[in-house]
Amino acid sequence: MSHSGAELRIRFIPGKVQLVQEEALVQGPRVLVTGATGLLGRAVYKEFQNNGWVVVGTGYRRARPRLLRCDLTDEDAVRELLHEYKPDVIVHCAAERRPDIVERHTEAAINLNVHATSVLAKEAAACSALFLYISTDYVFDGRNPPYGEDDAPSPLNVYGRSKLEGERETLRHCPGAVVLRVPILFGEVESVSESAVTSLWLKVRDTSESCALDHCQQRFPTHTRDVAVVCRKLCERARQDPSINGIFHFSANEQMTKYEMGIAMAQAFRLSSAHLSPLTEQSALTAALRPMNSRLNCSRLEMLNLNVHSLPFTSVVDCLWPFTDDKRWRQTVFH
Ligand SMILES: NC(=O)c1ccc[n+]([C@@H]2O[C@H](COP(=O)([O-])OP(=O)(O)OC[C@H]3O[C@@H](n4cnc5c(N)ncnc54)[C@H](OP(=O)(O)O)[C@@H]3O)[C@@H](O)[C@H]2O)c1
Repeated sequence: MSHSGAELRIRFIPGKVQLVQEEALVQGPRVLVTGATGLLGRAVYKEFQNNGWVVVGTGYRRARPRLLRCDLTDEDAVRELLHEYKPDVIVHCAAERRPDIVERHTEAAINLNVHATSVLAKEAAACSALFLYISTDYVFDGRNPPYGEDDAPSPLNVYGRSKLEGERETLRHCPGAVVLRVPILFGEVESVSESAVTSLWLKVRDTSESCALDHCQQRFPTHTRDVAVVCRKLCERARQDPSINGIFHFSANEQMTKYEMGIAMAQAFRLSSAHLSPLTEQSALTAALRPMNSRLNCSRLEMLNLNVHSLPFTSVVDCLWPFTDDKRWRQTVFH
Protein backbone atom coordinates (compact mmCIF):
# COMPACT_ATOMS: atom_id res chain seq x y z
CA MET A 1 0.00 0.00 0.00
CA SER A 2 1.28 3.45 -0.82
CA HIS A 3 2.07 6.02 1.83
CA SER A 4 -0.95 7.96 0.85
CA GLY A 5 -0.73 10.49 3.71
CA ALA A 6 0.99 12.83 1.26
CA GLU A 7 -2.05 12.70 -1.01
CA LEU A 8 -4.32 14.47 1.44
CA ARG A 9 -3.90 18.15 0.76
CA ILE A 10 -4.27 20.54 3.65
CA ARG A 11 -4.76 24.22 3.06
CA PHE A 12 -3.97 26.52 5.95
CA ILE A 13 -6.11 29.57 6.32
CA PRO A 14 -5.17 31.85 9.21
CA GLY A 15 -7.51 31.34 12.14
CA LYS A 16 -9.47 28.65 10.35
CA VAL A 17 -9.14 24.95 9.78
CA GLN A 18 -9.54 23.96 6.19
CA LEU A 19 -8.78 20.67 4.55
CA VAL A 20 -8.87 20.10 0.86
CA GLN A 21 -9.06 16.47 -0.15
CA GLU A 22 -8.46 15.04 -3.55
CA GLU A 23 -11.00 12.27 -3.12
CA ALA A 24 -9.78 10.29 -6.08
CA LEU A 25 -6.29 10.06 -4.64
CA VAL A 26 -7.07 9.43 -0.99
CA GLN A 27 -6.66 5.76 -0.08
CA GLY A 28 -6.45 3.79 3.12
CA PRO A 29 -8.12 4.41 6.47
CA ARG A 30 -7.89 7.94 7.78
CA VAL A 31 -6.45 8.80 11.15
CA LEU A 32 -6.37 12.12 12.94
CA VAL A 33 -3.53 12.41 15.45
CA THR A 34 -3.89 15.22 17.99
CA GLY A 35 -0.73 16.46 19.68
CA ALA A 36 1.27 15.41 16.62
CA THR A 37 3.94 18.00 17.44
CA GLY A 38 4.49 16.40 20.85
CA LEU A 39 6.77 13.65 22.10
CA LEU A 40 4.34 10.79 21.58
CA GLY A 41 2.23 12.32 18.79
CA ARG A 42 5.25 12.57 16.48
CA ALA A 43 5.95 8.85 16.84
CA VAL A 44 2.28 7.95 16.38
CA TYR A 45 2.03 10.11 13.26
CA LYS A 46 5.09 8.41 11.77
CA GLU A 47 3.95 4.89 12.65
CA PHE A 48 0.55 5.28 10.97
CA GLN A 49 2.01 7.06 7.95
CA ASN A 50 4.59 4.30 7.46
CA ASN A 51 1.84 1.70 7.46
CA GLY A 52 -0.43 2.95 4.72
CA TRP A 53 -2.77 5.18 6.70
CA VAL A 54 -3.84 8.63 5.53
CA VAL A 55 -2.69 10.78 8.42
CA VAL A 56 -3.58 14.29 9.47
CA GLY A 57 -1.77 15.61 12.52
CA THR A 58 -2.74 18.59 14.61
CA GLY A 59 -0.57 20.72 16.83
CA TYR A 60 -0.94 24.07 18.45
CA ARG A 61 2.07 26.31 19.10
CA ARG A 62 4.48 24.19 17.02
CA ALA A 63 2.03 23.16 14.28
CA ARG A 64 3.02 25.25 11.34
CA PRO A 65 4.20 24.80 8.64
CA ARG A 66 3.95 20.98 8.53
CA LEU A 67 0.84 20.26 10.56
CA LEU A 68 -2.62 21.58 11.06
CA ARG A 69 -3.00 24.19 13.76
CA CYS A 70 -6.08 23.61 15.86
CA ASP A 71 -6.75 24.83 19.39
CA LEU A 72 -8.56 21.83 20.81
CA THR A 73 -10.08 23.96 23.56
CA ASP A 74 -12.04 25.78 20.83
CA GLU A 75 -15.15 23.61 20.40
CA ASP A 76 -16.12 25.11 17.05
CA ALA A 77 -12.66 24.49 15.62
CA VAL A 78 -12.79 20.86 16.78
CA ARG A 79 -16.22 20.31 15.23
CA GLU A 80 -15.12 21.93 12.00
CA LEU A 81 -11.97 19.83 11.90
CA LEU A 82 -13.87 16.55 12.29
CA HIS A 83 -16.63 17.60 9.97
CA GLU A 84 -14.13 18.45 7.24
CA TYR A 85 -11.79 15.54 7.71
CA LYS A 86 -14.19 12.74 8.75
CA PRO A 87 -11.54 10.43 10.20
CA ASP A 88 -12.00 6.70 10.68
CA VAL A 89 -9.81 6.87 13.77
CA ILE A 90 -8.74 9.62 16.18
CA VAL A 91 -5.64 9.10 18.33
CA HIS A 92 -5.84 11.78 20.99
CA CYS A 93 -2.32 12.51 22.26
CA ALA A 94 -2.65 16.25 23.02
CA ALA A 95 -2.57 17.02 26.73
CA GLU A 96 -0.87 19.08 29.37
CA ARG A 97 1.19 16.30 30.94
CA ARG A 98 3.64 18.16 33.18
CA PRO A 99 2.28 17.59 36.72
CA ASP A 100 3.83 20.72 38.23
CA ILE A 101 2.45 22.94 35.44
CA VAL A 102 -0.98 21.36 35.84
CA GLU A 103 -0.82 22.16 39.56
CA ARG A 104 -0.08 25.83 38.78
CA HIS A 105 -2.31 26.34 35.72
CA THR A 106 -5.13 24.02 36.60
CA GLU A 107 -7.93 25.67 34.66
CA ALA A 108 -6.07 25.67 31.35
CA ALA A 109 -4.97 22.06 31.90
CA ILE A 110 -8.51 20.90 32.74
CA ASN A 111 -9.78 22.66 29.63
CA LEU A 112 -7.41 20.63 27.48
CA ASN A 113 -7.21 17.34 29.38
CA VAL A 114 -10.90 17.05 30.23
CA HIS A 115 -13.14 19.42 28.27
CA ALA A 116 -11.39 19.12 24.91
CA THR A 117 -11.33 15.33 25.37
CA SER A 118 -15.04 15.35 26.09
CA VAL A 119 -15.81 17.33 22.91
CA LEU A 120 -13.56 15.11 20.80
CA ALA A 121 -15.16 11.95 22.20
CA LYS A 122 -18.68 13.26 21.48
CA GLU A 123 -17.69 14.22 17.94
CA ALA A 124 -15.94 10.88 17.41
CA ALA A 125 -19.15 9.08 18.41
CA ALA A 126 -21.20 11.33 16.12
CA CYS A 127 -19.04 10.56 13.09
CA SER A 128 -18.57 6.87 14.06
CA ALA A 129 -14.81 7.23 14.37
CA LEU A 130 -12.81 4.95 16.63
CA PHE A 131 -11.45 7.10 19.47
CA LEU A 132 -8.14 6.19 21.15
CA TYR A 133 -7.40 8.25 24.23
CA ILE A 134 -3.86 8.21 25.64
CA SER A 135 -3.81 8.14 29.43
CA THR A 136 -1.26 7.63 32.17
CA ASP A 137 -0.13 5.37 35.02
CA TYR A 138 -0.52 8.48 37.23
CA VAL A 139 -4.22 7.59 37.59
CA PHE A 140 -2.92 5.18 40.29
CA ASP A 141 -1.49 6.15 43.68
CA GLY A 142 1.46 3.76 43.38
CA ARG A 143 0.95 2.07 46.76
CA ASN A 144 -0.11 -1.36 45.57
CA PRO A 145 1.46 -2.33 42.23
CA PRO A 146 1.15 -3.87 39.74
CA TYR A 147 -2.11 -2.31 38.52
CA GLY A 148 -4.50 -4.17 36.26
CA GLU A 149 -6.90 -2.51 33.86
CA ASP A 150 -9.80 -3.06 36.29
CA ASP A 151 -8.05 -1.82 39.43
CA ALA A 152 -9.57 1.26 41.04
CA PRO A 153 -7.68 4.44 40.15
CA SER A 154 -6.74 6.87 42.91
CA PRO A 155 -4.62 9.69 41.48
CA LEU A 156 -2.32 11.64 43.80
CA ASN A 157 -2.09 14.86 41.81
CA VAL A 158 -4.24 17.16 39.67
CA TYR A 159 -2.64 15.89 36.46
CA GLY A 160 -3.61 12.29 37.30
CA ARG A 161 -7.12 13.40 38.24
CA SER A 162 -7.51 15.35 34.99
CA LYS A 163 -6.41 12.35 32.90
CA LEU A 164 -8.78 10.09 34.81
CA GLU A 165 -11.61 12.55 34.13
CA GLY A 166 -10.56 12.50 30.46
CA GLU A 167 -10.86 8.69 30.50
CA ARG A 168 -14.33 8.89 32.02
CA GLU A 169 -15.50 11.52 29.54
CA THR A 170 -14.11 9.38 26.72
CA LEU A 171 -15.97 6.24 27.75
CA ARG A 172 -19.15 8.15 28.69
CA HIS A 173 -19.54 9.78 25.30
CA CYS A 174 -17.94 7.10 23.20
CA PRO A 175 -18.50 3.62 24.72
CA GLY A 176 -16.61 1.95 21.87
CA ALA A 177 -13.48 3.99 22.59
CA VAL A 178 -10.10 2.63 23.63
CA VAL A 179 -8.12 4.09 26.54
CA LEU A 180 -4.41 3.30 26.55
CA ARG A 181 -2.52 4.00 29.79
CA VAL A 182 1.25 4.35 29.50
CA PRO A 183 4.06 5.20 31.96
CA ILE A 184 6.94 7.71 31.65
CA LEU A 185 7.95 8.12 28.00
CA PHE A 186 11.11 8.89 26.08
CA GLY A 187 12.15 8.71 22.44
CA GLU A 188 13.28 11.05 19.70
CA VAL A 189 13.27 14.47 21.31
CA GLU A 190 13.61 17.98 19.91
CA SER A 191 15.48 19.00 23.06
CA VAL A 192 16.56 16.81 25.98
CA SER A 193 14.21 18.68 28.32
CA GLU A 194 11.22 17.36 26.35
CA SER A 195 11.14 14.10 28.31
CA ALA A 196 11.68 13.53 32.04
CA VAL A 197 14.00 10.65 31.01
CA THR A 198 16.21 12.42 28.46
CA SER A 199 16.43 15.53 30.65
CA LEU A 200 18.63 13.44 32.99
CA TRP A 201 21.26 13.52 30.27
CA LEU A 202 22.29 17.10 31.21
CA LYS A 203 23.13 15.88 34.71
CA VAL A 204 24.84 12.71 33.51
CA ARG A 205 27.00 14.51 30.95
CA ASP A 206 28.27 17.18 33.34
CA THR A 207 30.70 14.97 35.26
CA SER A 208 32.26 18.02 36.98
CA GLU A 209 29.13 18.62 39.13
CA SER A 210 28.05 16.12 41.77
CA CYS A 211 24.37 15.36 41.44
CA ALA A 212 21.83 13.42 43.50
CA LEU A 213 19.11 11.67 41.52
CA ASP A 214 15.88 10.25 42.89
CA HIS A 215 16.24 6.64 43.99
CA CYS A 216 12.79 6.23 45.58
CA GLN A 217 10.23 6.30 42.80
CA GLN A 218 10.17 3.21 40.61
CA ARG A 219 9.61 3.96 36.93
CA PHE A 220 9.23 1.95 33.72
CA PRO A 221 10.68 4.15 30.97
CA THR A 222 8.91 3.30 27.73
CA HIS A 223 9.90 4.24 24.19
CA THR A 224 7.38 6.30 22.19
CA ARG A 225 8.07 4.14 19.13
CA ASP A 226 6.77 1.07 21.00
CA VAL A 227 3.68 2.94 22.20
CA ALA A 228 3.04 4.09 18.62
CA VAL A 229 3.14 0.48 17.36
CA VAL A 230 0.69 -0.56 20.07
CA CYS A 231 -1.62 2.33 19.10
CA ARG A 232 -1.62 1.27 15.46
CA LYS A 233 -2.14 -2.42 16.23
CA LEU A 234 -4.96 -1.61 18.66
CA CYS A 235 -6.69 0.61 16.09
CA GLU A 236 -6.34 -1.95 13.32
CA ARG A 237 -7.72 -4.73 15.51
CA ALA A 238 -10.51 -2.61 17.04
CA ARG A 239 -11.73 -1.63 13.58
CA GLN A 240 -12.22 -5.31 12.80
CA ASP A 241 -13.50 -6.34 16.21
CA PRO A 242 -15.78 -3.91 18.11
CA SER A 243 -15.43 -5.98 21.29
CA ILE A 244 -11.96 -4.38 21.57
CA ASN A 245 -12.76 -1.30 23.61
CA GLY A 246 -12.24 0.05 27.12
CA ILE A 247 -9.01 0.28 29.07
CA PHE A 248 -5.63 -1.19 28.08
CA HIS A 249 -2.20 -0.87 29.69
CA PHE A 250 1.14 -0.79 27.94
CA SER A 251 4.57 -0.50 29.56
CA ALA A 252 8.17 -1.55 29.09
CA ASN A 253 9.28 -4.09 31.71
CA GLU A 254 12.51 -2.62 33.01
CA GLN A 255 12.05 -1.09 36.47
CA MET A 256 14.38 1.83 37.19
CA THR A 257 14.66 4.86 39.43
CA LYS A 258 15.97 8.09 37.91
CA TYR A 259 19.30 7.35 39.58
CA GLU A 260 19.44 3.97 37.83
CA MET A 261 18.51 5.59 34.51
CA GLY A 262 21.37 8.07 34.99
CA ILE A 263 23.84 5.26 35.71
CA ALA A 264 22.60 3.33 32.66
CA MET A 265 23.04 6.39 30.42
CA ALA A 266 26.57 6.96 31.73
CA GLN A 267 27.39 3.31 31.02
CA ALA A 268 25.88 3.45 27.52
CA PHE A 269 28.01 6.48 26.63
CA ARG A 270 31.05 5.22 28.59
CA LEU A 271 31.05 8.20 30.89
CA SER A 272 32.01 8.24 34.54
CA SER A 273 29.06 8.03 36.92
CA ALA A 274 31.12 8.87 40.01
CA HIS A 275 29.42 12.27 40.28
CA LEU A 276 25.95 10.71 40.54
CA SER A 277 24.52 9.68 43.89
CA PRO A 278 21.20 8.10 44.91
CA LEU A 279 18.68 10.34 46.67
CA THR A 280 16.82 8.04 49.01
CA GLU A 281 14.50 10.58 50.62
CA GLN A 282 11.54 12.16 48.86
CA SER A 283 12.05 15.84 48.10
CA ALA A 284 9.59 18.05 49.96
CA LEU A 285 10.08 20.67 47.24
CA THR A 286 8.23 18.77 44.53
CA ALA A 287 5.03 20.67 43.74
CA ALA A 288 2.93 17.68 42.71
CA LEU A 289 2.97 14.34 44.51
CA ARG A 290 4.01 11.41 42.32
CA PRO A 291 3.24 7.70 42.77
CA MET A 292 6.06 5.55 44.18
CA ASN A 293 5.45 2.60 41.90
CA SER A 294 2.54 2.54 39.47
CA ARG A 295 3.70 -0.51 37.54
CA LEU A 296 1.11 -1.44 34.93
CA ASN A 297 0.02 -5.00 34.36
CA CYS A 298 -0.44 -5.26 30.59
CA SER A 299 -2.25 -8.61 30.48
CA ARG A 300 -5.17 -7.44 28.32
CA LEU A 301 -2.85 -6.44 25.48
CA GLU A 302 -0.80 -9.62 25.96
CA MET A 303 -3.88 -11.84 25.76
CA LEU A 304 -4.82 -10.25 22.45
CA ASN A 305 -1.25 -10.59 21.20
CA LEU A 306 -1.07 -6.82 20.74
CA ASN A 307 1.88 -6.30 23.06
CA VAL A 308 5.27 -5.05 21.87
CA HIS A 309 8.51 -6.32 23.41
CA SER A 310 10.64 -3.35 24.37
CA LEU A 311 14.40 -3.31 23.89
CA PRO A 312 16.66 -2.84 26.93
CA PHE A 313 16.88 0.75 28.16
CA THR A 314 20.61 1.05 27.41
CA SER A 315 20.10 0.15 23.78
CA VAL A 316 17.26 2.61 23.21
CA VAL A 317 18.82 5.65 24.84
CA ASP A 318 20.58 6.13 21.51
CA CYS A 319 17.93 8.85 21.05
CA LEU A 320 20.47 10.92 23.02
CA TRP A 321 23.20 10.72 20.43
CA PRO A 322 22.25 14.05 18.72
CA PHE A 323 22.97 15.69 22.08
CA THR A 324 26.44 14.23 22.53
CA ASP A 325 29.47 16.36 21.70
CA ASP A 326 31.19 13.50 19.95
CA LYS A 327 29.03 12.13 17.12
CA ARG A 328 31.27 9.07 16.81
CA TRP A 329 29.29 7.56 19.70
CA ARG A 330 26.62 6.66 17.18
CA GLN A 331 28.98 4.22 15.50
CA THR A 332 31.09 3.10 18.43
CA VAL A 333 28.51 2.48 21.13
CA PHE A 334 25.28 1.47 19.48
CA HIS A 335 26.29 -0.16 16.22
N1 LIG B 1 5.45 12.18 28.29
C1 LIG B 1 5.22 11.25 29.20
O1 LIG B 1 6.14 10.84 29.95
C2 LIG B 1 3.84 10.68 29.36
C3 LIG B 1 3.64 9.66 30.31
C4 LIG B 1 2.37 9.08 30.44
C5 LIG B 1 1.32 9.52 29.64
N2 LIG B 1 1.54 10.53 28.75
C6 LIG B 1 0.39 10.96 27.95
O2 LIG B 1 0.76 10.82 26.60
C7 LIG B 1 0.11 11.82 25.80
C8 LIG B 1 1.13 12.52 24.94
O3 LIG B 1 2.05 13.20 25.80
P1 LIG B 1 3.36 13.89 25.21
O4 LIG B 1 4.46 13.54 26.13
O5 LIG B 1 3.51 13.62 23.77
O6 LIG B 1 2.98 15.44 25.44
P2 LIG B 1 3.77 16.71 24.88
O7 LIG B 1 5.07 16.32 24.27
O8 LIG B 1 3.77 17.71 26.00
O9 LIG B 1 2.83 17.25 23.71
C9 LIG B 1 1.63 17.87 24.02
C10 LIG B 1 0.89 18.12 22.73
O10 LIG B 1 -0.34 18.77 23.03
C11 LIG B 1 -0.49 19.86 22.11
N3 LIG B 1 -1.32 20.92 22.68
C12 LIG B 1 -1.09 21.65 23.79
N4 LIG B 1 -2.08 22.55 23.98
C13 LIG B 1 -2.96 22.38 22.95
C14 LIG B 1 -4.18 23.00 22.56
N5 LIG B 1 -4.74 23.98 23.29
N6 LIG B 1 -4.79 22.58 21.43
C15 LIG B 1 -4.26 21.59 20.69
N7 LIG B 1 -3.12 20.95 21.00
C16 LIG B 1 -2.48 21.35 22.13
C17 LIG B 1 0.92 20.35 21.88
O11 LIG B 1 0.96 21.13 20.70
P3 LIG B 1 2.10 22.29 20.49
O12 LIG B 1 3.34 21.81 21.15
O13 LIG B 1 2.18 22.44 19.01
O14 LIG B 1 1.53 23.51 21.18
C18 LIG B 1 1.64 19.01 21.74
O15 LIG B 1 1.50 18.50 20.46
C19 LIG B 1 -0.63 12.71 26.79
O16 LIG B 1 -1.96 12.32 26.85
C20 LIG B 1 0.03 12.41 28.11
O17 LIG B 1 -0.86 12.62 29.19
C21 LIG B 1 2.76 11.11 28.57
